[in-house]
Amino acid sequence: MAIATPARTDLPNLPHWETTPDDLPGAIRQIKAALRARIRASGRSVEEVFAVVEQRVRLRVEQIAAEKARGEPAWPIIDYADLAAGTVTPDQLAQLRQRGCLVVRGHFDRGQALRWDRAIVDYVESNRFFESYRGPGDDFFGSVGSRPEIYPIYWSPAQMQARQSDRMALVQAFLNSQWTSQSDGVQWFDPQRDSLYPDRIRRRPAGADSAGLGTHLDPGTLDLWLTRAYQQAFRHLFDGTVEAYDPWDAAYRTAGPQYPGSTMCSVFRTFQGWTALSDMAHDQGVLHTVPIPEAMGYLLLRPLLPDVADDDMCGVTTNQVFPASDTWHPLLMDALTGIPDVRAGDSVWWHCDMIHSVAPVQNQQGWGNVMYIPAAPWCPRNEKYAAVVREAFITGSSPSDFPDENYERDWPNRFRPDELNETGRRGLGFD
Ligand SMILES: [Fe+2]
Repeated sequence: MAIATPARTDLPNLPHWETTPDDLPGAIRQIKAALRARIRASGRSVEEVFAVVEQRVRLRVEQIAAEKARGEPAWPIIDYADLAAGTVTPDQLAQLRQRGCLVVRGHFDRGQALRWDRAIVDYVESNRFFESYRGPGDDFFGSVGSRPEIYPIYWSPAQMQARQSDRMALVQAFLNSQWTSQSDGVQWFDPQRDSLYPDRIRRRPAGADSAGLGTHLDPGTLDLWLTRAYQQAFRHLFDGTVEAYDPWDAAYRTAGPQYPGSTMCSVFRTFQGWTALSDMAHDQGVLHTVPIPEAMGYLLLRPLLPDVADDDMCGVTTNQVFPASDTWHPLLMDALTGIPDVRAGDSVWWHCDMIHSVAPVQNQQGWGNVMYIPAAPWCPRNEKYAAVVREAFITGSSPSDFPDENYERDWPNRFRPDELNETGRRGLGFD
């Protein structure tokens, strides 16, 4: 069993806030002073610790730029057939761990993916969704004309069949196993059991113009610095042992609280992901990432440098996604890399800490259709949310991480409980 390096106990303790502080600027001032004091007490300066992370990241940025210049795909690609046969090469594994992202080619048969896409259209049309659509329930994603681009639909047979499929379980278990899920006698999550996190569908039609989505990350906001569990998860960044920071160590990440927000994801995801339901070319408004998992160290330490105001965390605040930008993170932005061309049935994955964006597109060629299905392994946090998900599943409601839109409650042809297989029952916590 792995032994996670424990947090140093000889350094000053950090104040922590297990729920959102009332006085955010005050809490930011306090935690920044305490983090600086803790790093100084370790015998190193904040500048020195940041420089270590910056250098580690810079090497990756330069490597990615060189690969792009040579015309090589910076996004790792693995065939589903190799995953299933256990013939993924050590080089492929190393590239996955280095880049933190992956395209799984042929995750599903292309015909199956296209049938699911058609089935989703039939599902929503048979329930007169477009006639009853009331506009976007949140401002996180926009809509195209009067028709949505993001369908707030969670319980179609197509989505549930994909979520509980053997092929999905195999890929999720493979991705989960890139993490250290067990250390110091604690099993932080179960890599073999997914919690079937229900998310939406995107169907973006040919001819669409889309402004895309700016560079951001999803795992949290100020809670990443302010809660006890995250302070422990990121302990090496803050105690002078920054060289030991490991973005694949799940210790302390799967049980702590999160600050609520309109864009929050309640579950712990090892990877976020989606499955393509149409072919998509790399220049048609697709997903980009900064494929450097260690960049989280840069993001969390950058606000401690003296050029950032004492009550500012480089623009991070609650109830908004964590922004990444040229203002504070120009080095990271240099590495922003889009996915290669994908076909219906391929799936796309990225480490939960990684910066990502969706490129803008004008007059999109072809459809841009995806089902969002992440890898969210069973752990205390996901077990808690699974109880909410079970209830939403039974009543056909929108899950609580999403706007309260509830289109599917009266739809007779949504996926039924008696259609759950063993993976589905375990994932929702029925067994
Ligand atoms: Fe996101």
